[in-house]
Amino acid sequence: MTTSPPSAPGPVADLPVAGDRVSQTLLLLGGTGDLAARLLLPGLGRLVATGAQPGLTLIGSGTEGWDNERWRRRVADAFATVGAGGPRATEVVRTSRYISADVTSEEDLRRLLADCRGRLVIFFALPPMITAKATAALARIGLPPGTRLMLEKPFGTNAITARSLNGILARLVPEDQVHRIDHFLGKSTVMNILGLRFANRIFEPVLNSTHVACVDVVFDETLGLEGRAGYYDGAGALVDMVQSHLLQVLALIAMDAPPTLDARDLRGRKAQVLRATRVWDDNPARWSRRARYTAGEAAGRRLPAYADEPGIDPNRGTETLAEVVLAVDTWRWAGVPFRLRSGKALAGEREEAVVTFKQPPRVPTGLTGYEQPDRLRIGFEPDRLSLDVNINGPGNPLELDQVNLAADFGPGELPPYGEVLRGALEGDPALSVRGDTVEDSWRIVEPVLEAWRAGAVPLQEYAAGSHGPGDSLLTPAPGEMRRH
Ligand code: BG6
Repeated sequence: MTTSPPSAPGPVADLPVAGDRVSQTLLLLGGTGDLAARLLLPGLGRLVATGAQPGLTLIGSGTEGWDNERWRRRVADAFATVGAGGPRATEVVRTSRYISADVTSEEDLRRLLADCRGRLVIFFALPPMITAKATAALARIGLPPGTRLMLEKPFGTNAITARSLNGILARLVPEDQVHRIDHFLGKSTVMNILGLRFANRIFEPVLNSTHVACVDVVFDETLGLEGRAGYYDGAGALVDMVQSHLLQVLALIAMDAPPTLDARDLRGRKAQVLRATRVWDDNPARWSRRARYTAGEAAGRRLPAYADEPGIDPNRGTETLAEVVLAVDTWRWAGVPFRLRSGKALAGEREEAVVTFKQPPRVPTGLTGYEQPDRLRIGFEPDRLSLDVNINGPGNPLELDQVNLAADFGPGELPPYGEVLRGALEGDPALSVRGDTVEDSWRIVEPVLEAWRAGAVPLQEYAAGSHGPGDSLLTPAPGEMRRH
Protein backbone atom coordinates (compact mmCIF):
# COMPACT_ATOMS: atom_id res chain seq x y z
CA MET A 1 0.00 0.00 0.00
CA THR A 2 1.30 3.45 -0.83
CA THR A 3 0.66 6.51 1.31
CA SER A 4 1.64 9.02 -1.35
CA PRO A 5 -0.93 11.75 -2.06
CA PRO A 6 -3.27 11.29 -5.02
CA SER A 7 -1.94 12.41 -8.36
CA ALA A 8 -4.65 14.99 -8.75
CA PRO A 9 -5.51 15.70 -12.37
CA GLY A 10 -5.82 19.34 -13.36
CA PRO A 11 -9.10 21.15 -13.94
CA VAL A 12 -11.39 19.94 -16.71
CA ALA A 13 -9.78 22.14 -19.37
CA ASP A 14 -6.41 20.45 -18.77
CA LEU A 15 -7.69 16.92 -19.04
CA PRO A 16 -6.29 14.64 -21.72
CA VAL A 17 -8.51 14.96 -24.75
CA ALA A 18 -8.40 12.82 -27.88
CA GLY A 19 -10.72 14.17 -30.54
CA ASP A 20 -13.93 14.81 -28.62
CA ARG A 21 -12.92 12.31 -25.92
CA VAL A 22 -12.53 13.80 -22.48
CA SER A 23 -11.04 11.04 -20.42
CA GLN A 24 -13.07 10.22 -17.35
CA THR A 25 -12.87 7.57 -14.67
CA LEU A 26 -16.00 6.23 -13.06
CA LEU A 27 -14.97 4.86 -9.69
CA LEU A 28 -17.67 2.57 -8.38
CA LEU A 29 -17.44 2.16 -4.60
CA GLY A 30 -19.50 -0.81 -3.48
CA GLY A 31 -18.83 -2.31 -6.89
CA THR A 32 -19.19 -5.92 -5.72
CA GLY A 33 -22.65 -5.25 -4.26
CA ASP A 34 -26.12 -6.11 -5.39
CA LEU A 35 -27.05 -2.60 -6.58
CA ALA A 36 -24.07 -2.49 -8.91
CA ALA A 37 -24.84 -5.89 -10.42
CA ARG A 38 -28.61 -5.42 -10.81
CA LEU A 39 -28.93 -1.78 -11.77
CA LEU A 40 -25.83 0.38 -12.06
CA LEU A 41 -23.71 -1.77 -14.35
CA PRO A 42 -26.61 -2.69 -16.66
CA GLY A 43 -27.50 1.04 -16.85
CA LEU A 44 -23.89 1.88 -17.63
CA GLY A 45 -23.74 -0.88 -20.24
CA ARG A 46 -26.73 0.53 -22.11
CA LEU A 47 -25.30 4.03 -21.87
CA VAL A 48 -21.87 3.18 -23.28
CA ALA A 49 -23.39 0.89 -25.93
CA THR A 50 -25.04 4.01 -27.43
CA GLY A 51 -21.53 5.29 -28.11
CA ALA A 52 -21.74 7.88 -25.31
CA GLN A 53 -18.81 8.50 -22.96
CA PRO A 54 -16.03 7.49 -25.38
CA GLY A 55 -13.19 8.29 -22.97
CA LEU A 56 -14.58 6.43 -19.97
CA THR A 57 -12.63 4.02 -17.76
CA LEU A 58 -14.47 2.02 -15.14
CA ILE A 59 -12.84 1.11 -11.84
CA GLY A 60 -14.70 -1.07 -9.37
CA SER A 61 -13.86 -1.20 -5.71
CA GLY A 62 -15.05 -3.28 -2.79
CA THR A 63 -13.69 -4.90 0.34
CA GLU A 64 -13.59 -8.34 -1.33
CA GLY A 65 -10.22 -9.50 -2.64
CA TRP A 66 -11.35 -9.81 -6.25
CA ASP A 67 -8.93 -9.66 -9.15
CA ASN A 68 -9.43 -7.82 -12.45
CA GLU A 69 -10.61 -10.94 -14.19
CA ARG A 70 -13.38 -11.61 -11.71
CA TRP A 71 -14.48 -7.98 -11.82
CA ARG A 72 -14.51 -7.89 -15.62
CA ARG A 73 -16.69 -10.99 -15.58
CA ARG A 74 -19.09 -9.21 -13.23
CA VAL A 75 -19.22 -6.19 -15.54
CA ALA A 76 -19.61 -8.31 -18.68
CA ASP A 77 -22.39 -10.38 -17.10
CA ALA A 78 -24.24 -7.24 -16.04
CA PHE A 79 -23.89 -5.71 -19.52
CA ALA A 80 -25.16 -8.97 -21.04
CA THR A 81 -28.38 -8.84 -18.97
CA VAL A 82 -29.44 -5.80 -21.01
CA GLY A 83 -27.90 -6.87 -24.30
CA ALA A 84 -25.24 -4.15 -24.07
CA GLY A 85 -22.66 -5.36 -26.56
CA GLY A 86 -20.74 -3.77 -29.41
CA PRO A 87 -17.24 -2.31 -29.53
CA ARG A 88 -17.71 0.44 -26.92
CA ALA A 89 -19.22 -1.82 -24.27
CA THR A 90 -16.54 -4.45 -24.94
CA GLU A 91 -13.84 -1.80 -24.62
CA VAL A 92 -15.21 -0.61 -21.26
CA VAL A 93 -15.17 -4.19 -19.95
CA ARG A 94 -11.66 -4.82 -21.30
CA THR A 95 -10.11 -1.70 -19.78
CA SER A 96 -12.01 -1.96 -16.50
CA ARG A 97 -10.07 -2.66 -13.31
CA TYR A 98 -10.79 -3.71 -9.75
CA ILE A 99 -9.11 -2.33 -6.64
CA SER A 100 -9.82 -3.83 -3.27
CA ALA A 101 -10.13 -1.11 -0.62
CA ASP A 102 -11.71 -0.13 2.66
CA VAL A 103 -13.29 3.19 1.68
CA THR A 104 -13.40 4.43 5.25
CA SER A 105 -9.58 4.35 5.39
CA GLU A 106 -7.72 7.47 4.25
CA GLU A 107 -4.78 5.40 3.15
CA ASP A 108 -6.91 3.16 0.94
CA LEU A 109 -8.73 6.14 -0.51
CA ARG A 110 -5.44 7.83 -1.41
CA ARG A 111 -4.38 4.66 -3.17
CA LEU A 112 -7.67 4.52 -5.07
CA LEU A 113 -7.52 8.14 -6.17
CA ALA A 114 -3.93 7.78 -7.31
CA ASP A 115 -5.08 5.11 -9.73
CA CYS A 116 -7.74 7.24 -11.42
CA ARG A 117 -7.01 9.25 -14.55
CA GLY A 118 -8.80 12.19 -16.12
CA ARG A 119 -11.95 13.68 -14.65
CA LEU A 120 -13.17 11.62 -11.76
CA VAL A 121 -16.75 10.57 -11.02
CA ILE A 122 -17.18 8.62 -7.77
CA PHE A 123 -20.33 6.56 -7.28
CA PHE A 124 -21.05 5.67 -3.65
CA ALA A 125 -23.16 2.50 -3.94
CA LEU A 126 -22.83 2.03 -0.20
CA PRO A 127 -25.01 2.03 2.92
CA PRO A 128 -25.52 5.57 4.33
CA MET A 129 -23.24 5.05 7.34
CA ILE A 130 -20.33 3.91 5.16
CA THR A 131 -20.96 6.72 2.68
CA ALA A 132 -20.82 9.22 5.56
CA LYS A 133 -17.50 7.78 6.78
CA ALA A 134 -16.01 7.61 3.28
CA THR A 135 -16.96 11.22 2.45
CA ALA A 136 -15.59 12.40 5.80
CA ALA A 137 -12.28 10.64 5.04
CA LEU A 138 -12.23 12.20 1.54
CA ALA A 139 -12.85 15.63 3.08
CA ARG A 140 -9.64 15.13 5.08
CA ILE A 141 -7.50 14.10 2.12
CA GLY A 142 -9.06 16.27 -0.61
CA LEU A 143 -10.29 15.45 -4.10
CA PRO A 144 -8.95 16.28 -7.56
CA PRO A 145 -10.60 19.44 -8.93
CA GLY A 146 -13.73 18.86 -10.99
CA THR A 147 -14.59 15.57 -9.27
CA ARG A 148 -18.28 14.67 -9.33
CA LEU A 149 -19.92 12.61 -6.63
CA MET A 150 -22.89 10.30 -7.12
CA LEU A 151 -24.73 9.11 -4.03
CA GLU A 152 -27.37 6.43 -3.88
CA LYS A 153 -30.42 6.78 -1.63
CA PRO A 154 -31.18 6.75 1.23
CA PHE A 155 -29.32 10.02 1.63
CA GLY A 156 -28.71 10.05 5.36
CA THR A 157 -31.02 8.33 7.80
CA ASN A 158 -32.94 11.41 8.96
CA ALA A 159 -32.88 15.20 8.53
CA ILE A 160 -29.94 15.61 10.92
CA THR A 161 -27.67 13.04 9.27
CA ALA A 162 -28.70 14.28 5.80
CA ARG A 163 -27.74 17.84 6.84
CA SER A 164 -24.43 16.71 8.23
CA LEU A 165 -23.67 14.69 5.07
CA ASN A 166 -24.58 17.75 2.99
CA GLY A 167 -22.13 19.75 5.11
CA ILE A 168 -19.32 17.30 4.40
CA LEU A 169 -20.10 17.22 0.67
CA ALA A 170 -20.12 21.02 0.55
CA ARG A 171 -16.53 20.94 1.82
CA LEU A 172 -15.58 18.49 -0.94
CA VAL A 173 -17.12 19.85 -4.15
CA PRO A 174 -19.62 22.54 -5.27
CA GLU A 175 -23.29 21.51 -5.01
CA ASP A 176 -23.64 21.21 -8.80
CA GLN A 177 -21.06 18.41 -8.72
CA VAL A 178 -23.07 16.38 -6.22
CA HIS A 179 -25.46 13.93 -7.89
CA ARG A 180 -27.89 12.51 -5.35
CA ILE A 181 -29.48 9.71 -7.30
CA ASP A 182 -33.20 9.08 -7.42
CA HIS A 183 -33.65 6.62 -10.25
CA PHE A 184 -37.33 7.58 -10.56
CA LEU A 185 -36.09 10.80 -12.12
CA GLY A 186 -34.51 8.66 -14.83
CA LYS A 187 -37.79 6.89 -15.62
CA SER A 188 -39.04 8.20 -18.92
CA THR A 189 -42.66 8.37 -17.76
CA VAL A 190 -41.73 10.44 -14.75
CA MET A 191 -39.90 12.90 -16.97
CA ASN A 192 -42.83 12.80 -19.38
CA ILE A 193 -44.80 14.61 -16.67
CA LEU A 194 -42.94 17.72 -17.82
CA GLY A 195 -44.01 17.38 -21.45
CA LEU A 196 -47.54 16.46 -20.49
CA ARG A 197 -47.95 19.45 -18.22
CA PHE A 198 -46.00 22.16 -19.98
CA ALA A 199 -46.25 21.38 -23.69
CA ASN A 200 -50.05 21.15 -23.80
CA ARG A 201 -52.63 23.83 -23.34
CA ILE A 202 -55.36 21.54 -22.06
CA PHE A 203 -54.03 20.15 -18.75
CA GLU A 204 -52.08 22.91 -17.03
CA PRO A 205 -54.99 25.39 -16.64
CA VAL A 206 -57.01 22.80 -14.69
CA LEU A 207 -54.23 21.46 -12.49
CA ASN A 208 -55.09 23.45 -9.38
CA SER A 209 -57.42 23.50 -6.38
CA THR A 210 -60.31 24.95 -8.39
CA HIS A 211 -60.57 21.80 -10.48
CA VAL A 212 -58.69 19.00 -8.72
CA ALA A 213 -60.22 17.01 -5.85
CA CYS A 214 -57.12 14.99 -4.94
CA VAL A 215 -53.89 13.55 -6.30
CA ASP A 216 -52.73 9.99 -5.59
CA VAL A 217 -49.21 8.75 -6.17
CA VAL A 218 -49.24 4.99 -5.80
CA PHE A 219 -46.48 2.44 -6.16
CA ASP A 220 -47.82 -0.99 -5.24
CA GLU A 221 -45.52 -3.91 -5.99
CA THR A 222 -46.01 -7.66 -6.03
CA LEU A 223 -42.38 -8.18 -5.03
CA GLY A 224 -41.62 -8.95 -1.42
CA LEU A 225 -38.35 -8.46 0.42
CA GLU A 226 -36.20 -10.12 -2.27
CA GLY A 227 -33.35 -10.86 0.12
CA ARG A 228 -32.77 -7.23 1.06
CA ALA A 229 -33.32 -7.62 4.81
CA GLY A 230 -30.06 -5.89 5.74
CA TYR A 231 -31.15 -2.64 4.13
CA TYR A 232 -34.93 -2.81 4.16
CA ASP A 233 -35.55 -3.73 7.78
CA GLY A 234 -33.85 -0.50 8.82
CA ALA A 235 -35.73 1.56 6.23
CA GLY A 236 -39.30 0.36 5.66
CA ALA A 237 -41.71 1.45 2.96
CA LEU A 238 -41.98 5.08 4.06
CA VAL A 239 -38.24 5.75 3.82
CA ASP A 240 -37.57 3.34 0.95
CA MET A 241 -40.22 4.74 -1.37
CA VAL A 242 -42.12 7.76 -0.06
CA GLN A 243 -39.32 9.92 1.36
CA SER A 244 -37.46 9.62 -1.92
CA HIS A 245 -39.21 8.52 -5.10
CA LEU A 246 -42.84 9.43 -4.44
CA LEU A 247 -42.04 12.90 -3.11
CA GLN A 248 -40.04 13.53 -6.28
CA VAL A 249 -43.07 12.55 -8.36
CA LEU A 250 -45.29 14.78 -6.22
CA ALA A 251 -42.89 17.68 -6.81
CA LEU A 252 -43.03 17.22 -10.59
CA ILE A 253 -46.82 17.09 -10.58
CA ALA A 254 -47.29 20.05 -8.26
CA MET A 255 -44.51 22.46 -9.26
CA ASP A 256 -45.03 25.62 -11.29
CA ALA A 257 -43.65 25.76 -14.83
CA PRO A 258 -39.90 26.26 -14.87
CA PRO A 259 -38.73 28.70 -17.56
CA THR A 260 -36.12 26.18 -18.72
CA LEU A 261 -35.25 22.61 -17.83
CA ASP A 262 -31.77 23.46 -16.71
CA ALA A 263 -30.81 22.28 -13.28
CA ARG A 264 -31.21 25.63 -11.56
CA ASP A 265 -34.75 26.25 -12.82
CA LEU A 266 -36.03 22.69 -12.58
CA ARG A 267 -34.63 21.93 -9.16
CA GLY A 268 -35.63 25.35 -7.88
CA ARG A 269 -39.27 24.73 -8.83
CA LYS A 270 -39.29 21.29 -7.20
CA ALA A 271 -37.68 22.65 -4.07
CA GLN A 272 -40.39 25.34 -3.72
CA VAL A 273 -43.11 22.70 -3.76
CA LEU A 274 -41.43 20.43 -1.24
CA ARG A 275 -40.75 23.36 1.08
CA ALA A 276 -44.51 23.95 1.12
CA THR A 277 -45.39 20.30 1.73
CA ARG A 278 -46.32 18.81 5.11
CA VAL A 279 -48.54 16.13 6.61
CA TRP A 280 -52.22 16.93 6.17
CA ASP A 281 -53.54 18.91 9.15
CA ASP A 282 -50.12 18.35 10.76
CA ASN A 283 -51.73 15.22 12.12
CA PRO A 284 -49.65 12.14 11.24
CA ALA A 285 -51.56 9.95 13.67
CA ARG A 286 -54.73 10.53 11.63
CA TRP A 287 -53.25 10.85 8.14
CA SER A 288 -50.74 8.04 7.91
CA ARG A 289 -51.01 4.27 7.95
CA ARG A 290 -48.56 1.43 8.12
CA ALA A 291 -48.82 -2.31 7.69
CA ARG A 292 -46.70 -5.36 6.99
CA TYR A 293 -47.46 -8.51 5.09
CA THR A 294 -48.16 -11.92 6.51
CA ALA A 295 -47.66 -15.16 4.56
CA GLY A 296 -49.48 -15.50 1.27
CA GLU A 297 -49.10 -15.76 -2.46
CA ALA A 298 -48.27 -12.71 -4.58
CA ALA A 299 -47.97 -12.89 -8.35
CA GLY A 300 -47.94 -16.68 -8.23
CA ARG A 301 -45.13 -16.85 -5.68
CA ARG A 302 -45.51 -18.12 -2.14
CA LEU A 303 -44.09 -15.57 0.32
CA PRO A 304 -43.39 -16.12 4.01
CA ALA A 305 -44.60 -13.49 6.46
CA TYR A 306 -42.28 -10.47 6.41
CA ALA A 307 -41.56 -11.06 10.10
CA ASP A 308 -40.35 -14.60 9.28
CA GLU A 309 -38.01 -13.59 6.44
CA PRO A 310 -34.34 -14.36 7.20
CA GLY A 311 -32.51 -11.39 8.71
CA ILE A 312 -35.66 -9.59 9.87
CA ASP A 313 -36.09 -8.47 13.45
CA PRO A 314 -39.88 -8.67 13.89
CA ASN A 315 -39.71 -6.47 16.99
CA ARG A 316 -38.55 -3.53 14.92
CA GLY A 317 -42.06 -3.35 13.51
CA THR A 318 -40.82 -2.33 10.06
CA GLU A 319 -43.69 -1.59 7.68
CA THR A 320 -43.89 -2.99 4.17
CA LEU A 321 -46.76 -0.69 3.23
CA ALA A 322 -46.97 3.01 4.00
CA GLU A 323 -49.61 5.61 3.24
CA VAL A 324 -49.54 9.27 4.02
CA VAL A 325 -51.74 12.22 3.11
CA LEU A 326 -49.90 15.45 2.46
CA ALA A 327 -50.84 19.09 1.94
CA VAL A 328 -49.01 21.29 -0.54
CA ASP A 329 -49.53 24.71 0.92
CA THR A 330 -49.33 26.90 -2.15
CA TRP A 331 -51.87 29.16 -3.83
CA ARG A 332 -52.34 26.56 -6.54
CA TRP A 333 -52.85 23.51 -4.32
CA ALA A 334 -54.21 24.72 -0.96
CA GLY A 335 -56.91 22.28 0.19
CA VAL A 336 -56.03 19.46 -2.24
CA PRO A 337 -54.90 16.23 -0.54
CA PHE A 338 -51.91 14.43 -2.06
CA ARG A 339 -52.10 10.78 -1.05
CA LEU A 340 -48.90 8.79 -1.32
CA ARG A 341 -48.79 5.05 -0.92
CA SER A 342 -46.36 2.26 -1.53
CA GLY A 343 -46.50 -1.37 -0.53
CA LYS A 344 -44.81 -4.67 -1.21
CA ALA A 345 -46.25 -8.15 -1.78
CA LEU A 346 -49.60 -6.79 -2.97
CA ALA A 347 -52.14 -8.36 -5.29
CA GLY A 348 -51.10 -6.49 -8.39
CA GLU A 349 -48.67 -3.89 -9.60
CA ARG A 350 -50.24 -0.51 -9.58
CA GLU A 351 -47.67 2.15 -10.29
CA GLU A 352 -49.30 5.41 -11.23
CA ALA A 353 -50.12 8.98 -10.32
CA VAL A 354 -53.81 9.80 -10.56
CA VAL A 355 -55.27 13.29 -10.66
CA THR A 356 -58.95 13.08 -9.69
CA PHE A 357 -60.92 16.09 -10.84
CA LYS A 358 -63.85 17.63 -9.01
CA GLN A 359 -67.31 16.86 -10.23
CA PRO A 360 -68.74 19.28 -12.78
CA PRO A 361 -70.66 22.12 -11.05
CA ARG A 362 -73.88 20.66 -12.39
CA VAL A 363 -74.77 17.77 -14.65
CA PRO A 364 -77.86 18.89 -16.61
CA THR A 365 -81.10 17.21 -15.62
CA GLY A 366 -81.83 14.64 -18.27
CA LEU A 367 -78.24 13.38 -18.59
CA THR A 368 -78.20 10.22 -16.54
CA GLY A 369 -75.62 7.75 -15.31
CA TYR A 370 -72.99 10.17 -13.93
CA GLU A 371 -70.99 8.19 -11.39
CA GLN A 372 -67.32 8.98 -11.39
CA PRO A 373 -65.34 12.20 -11.81
CA ASP A 374 -62.72 12.53 -14.55
CA ARG A 375 -59.27 11.17 -13.83
CA LEU A 376 -55.92 11.75 -15.43
CA ARG A 377 -53.65 8.76 -14.94
CA ILE A 378 -49.91 8.77 -15.43
CA GLY A 379 -48.80 5.13 -15.40
CA PHE A 380 -45.17 4.41 -14.56
CA GLU A 381 -45.41 0.73 -15.32
CA PRO A 382 -46.68 0.20 -17.95
CA ASP A 383 -45.67 3.62 -19.24
CA ARG A 384 -49.05 4.99 -20.15
CA LEU A 385 -51.03 8.15 -20.03
CA SER A 386 -54.77 7.84 -19.80
CA LEU A 387 -57.87 9.88 -19.13
CA ASP A 388 -61.13 8.61 -17.65
CA VAL A 389 -63.89 10.80 -19.09
CA ASN A 390 -67.69 10.75 -19.03
CA ILE A 391 -69.25 10.67 -22.45
CA ASN A 392 -72.53 9.56 -23.90
CA GLY A 393 -72.32 5.84 -24.18
CA PRO A 394 -73.68 3.49 -26.79
CA GLY A 395 -77.43 3.20 -27.10
CA ASN A 396 -79.23 6.01 -25.33
CA PRO A 397 -77.20 9.16 -26.11
CA LEU A 398 -78.27 10.81 -22.86
CA GLU A 399 -76.97 7.95 -20.72
CA LEU A 400 -73.38 8.61 -19.60
CA ASP A 401 -70.59 6.06 -19.59
CA GLN A 402 -67.06 6.44 -18.39
CA VAL A 403 -64.50 5.64 -21.05
CA ASN A 404 -60.74 5.54 -20.89
CA LEU A 405 -58.65 7.30 -23.51
CA ALA A 406 -55.15 5.87 -23.36
CA ALA A 407 -51.79 6.35 -25.05
CA ASP A 408 -48.75 4.20 -24.42
CA PHE A 409 -45.36 5.83 -24.13
CA GLY A 410 -42.52 4.17 -25.93
CA PRO A 411 -39.79 2.93 -23.63
CA GLY A 412 -37.02 5.42 -22.90
CA GLU A 413 -33.74 5.14 -24.81
CA LEU A 414 -31.97 4.25 -21.57
CA PRO A 415 -33.02 2.47 -18.39
CA PRO A 416 -33.38 4.81 -15.37
CA TYR A 417 -29.88 4.16 -14.06
CA GLY A 418 -28.42 4.76 -17.52
CA GLU A 419 -30.22 8.09 -17.60
CA VAL A 420 -29.00 9.29 -14.20
CA LEU A 421 -25.46 8.09 -14.95
CA ARG A 422 -25.51 10.06 -18.17
CA GLY A 423 -26.46 13.19 -16.21
CA ALA A 424 -23.51 12.80 -13.84
CA LEU A 425 -20.98 11.79 -16.50
CA GLU A 426 -22.02 14.78 -18.61
CA GLY A 427 -22.02 17.11 -15.62
CA ASP A 428 -25.73 17.94 -15.71
CA PRO A 429 -27.30 17.80 -12.25
CA ALA A 430 -30.88 18.42 -13.48
CA LEU A 431 -31.91 14.83 -12.67
CA SER A 432 -30.15 14.81 -9.31
CA VAL A 433 -31.78 15.72 -6.03
CA ARG A 434 -30.50 18.98 -4.56
CA GLY A 435 -29.22 19.02 -0.98
CA ASP A 436 -31.94 21.24 0.47
CA THR A 437 -34.61 19.10 -1.18
CA VAL A 438 -33.32 15.94 0.49
CA GLU A 439 -33.44 17.67 3.85
CA ASP A 440 -37.00 18.83 3.16
CA SER A 441 -38.02 15.32 2.17
CA TRP A 442 -36.87 14.08 5.57
CA ARG A 443 -38.61 17.01 7.27
CA ILE A 444 -41.88 15.96 5.59
CA VAL A 445 -41.79 12.30 6.68
CA GLU A 446 -40.23 12.69 10.12
CA PRO A 447 -43.46 13.57 11.98
CA VAL A 448 -44.89 10.33 10.58
CA LEU A 449 -41.91 8.29 11.73
CA GLU A 450 -42.17 9.91 15.17
CA ALA A 451 -45.88 9.15 15.43
CA TRP A 452 -45.17 5.54 14.47
CA ARG A 453 -42.36 5.23 16.98
CA ALA A 454 -44.67 6.62 19.66
CA GLY A 455 -47.21 3.92 18.79
CA ALA A 456 -49.83 6.47 17.68
CA VAL A 457 -50.52 4.49 14.49
CA PRO A 458 -51.04 0.73 14.81
CA LEU A 459 -48.97 -1.57 12.61
CA GLN A 460 -51.65 -3.39 10.63
CA GLU A 461 -51.25 -6.64 8.77
CA TYR A 462 -52.26 -7.78 5.31
CA ALA A 463 -51.83 -11.13 3.64
CA ALA A 464 -49.22 -11.21 0.87
CA GLY A 465 -51.11 -11.13 -2.41
CA SER A 466 -54.02 -9.12 -1.00
CA HIS A 467 -54.91 -5.48 -1.72
CA GLY A 468 -53.46 -4.39 1.62
CA PRO A 469 -55.41 -3.49 4.73
CA GLY A 470 -59.00 -2.64 3.89
CA ASP A 471 -59.43 0.89 5.23
CA SER A 472 -57.02 2.69 2.93
CA LEU A 473 -56.62 6.45 3.15
CA LEU A 474 -57.06 6.43 -0.60
CA THR A 475 -60.64 6.41 -1.78
CA PRO A 476 -61.80 4.44 -3.56
CA ALA A 477 -59.62 1.77 -1.98
CA PRO A 478 -56.88 0.48 -4.32
CA GLY A 479 -58.60 -2.86 -4.82
CA GLU A 480 -61.65 -1.12 -6.22
CA MET A 481 -59.74 1.09 -8.60
CA ARG A 482 -59.70 0.15 -12.20
CA ARG A 483 -56.47 -1.11 -13.72
CA HIS A 484 -55.69 0.27 -17.13
C1 BG6 B 1 -36.04 1.07 -5.13
C2 BG6 B 1 -36.56 0.52 -3.83
O1 BG6 B 1 -35.43 2.31 -4.93
O2 BG6 B 1 -37.11 1.20 -6.04
C3 BG6 B 1 -37.22 -0.82 -4.06
O3 BG6 B 1 -35.49 0.39 -2.90
C4 BG6 B 1 -38.29 -0.72 -5.11
O4 BG6 B 1 -37.75 -1.31 -2.83
C5 BG6 B 1 -37.74 -0.03 -6.36
O5 BG6 B 1 -38.74 -2.02 -5.42
C6 BG6 B 1 -38.86 0.25 -7.36
O6 BG6 B 1 -38.35 0.83 -8.51
P1 BG6 B 1 -38.31 0.03 -9.89
O7 BG6 B 1 -37.70 0.98 -10.86
O8 BG6 B 1 -37.49 -1.18 -9.65
O9 BG6 B 1 -39.71 -0.31 -10.22
